[in-house]
Amino acid sequence: MSKRSDDRLDALFAAARAAQARAYAPYSRFRVGAALRTPSGAAFSGCNVENAAYPEGACAEANAIGAMVAAGERRIVEILVIGDGEALCAPCGGCRQRIREFADANTRVHVAGPEGVRATFTLEELLPHSFGPDHLPR
Ligand code: THU
Repeated sequence: MSKRSDDRLDALFAAARAAQARAYAPYSRFRVGAALRTPSGAAFSGCNVENAAYPEGACAEANAIGAMVAAGERRIVEILVIGDGEALCAPCGGCRQRIREFADANTRVHVAGPEGVRATFTLEELLPHSFGPDHLPR
């Protein structure tokens, strides 16, 4: 990877880690952070926000995407998700679809632990044969 893309990934990792530290996860005690970059170069981050009514909780990726859209951007160039523990904190099924809305088949999805990036996937690898905006009539 070029130094520039290394720096950009480092910046996403730092942003996701900072968001993870602010996660509100008193029920699962599993803190997640996400950060994404758009074509303008801007980065948006989010953390999971749980709720006493459990199904109302929101994932970190969903909140990062919400911040991007609220800022007027609609394209994910690259996204990084961070969680603790040994297992890969890959995006849940619902979040794969949420990412899909604003990404393409080759969009990189990085999965990190506290020590750094553990794996990188394309969106197509995580969500093959997906349904998206192009399936609907305009
Ligand atoms: N979680 C995320 O924020 N993103 C994912 O992709 C996986 C799961 C959160 C939801 C819940 O607050 C906690 O992790 C445990 O499932």
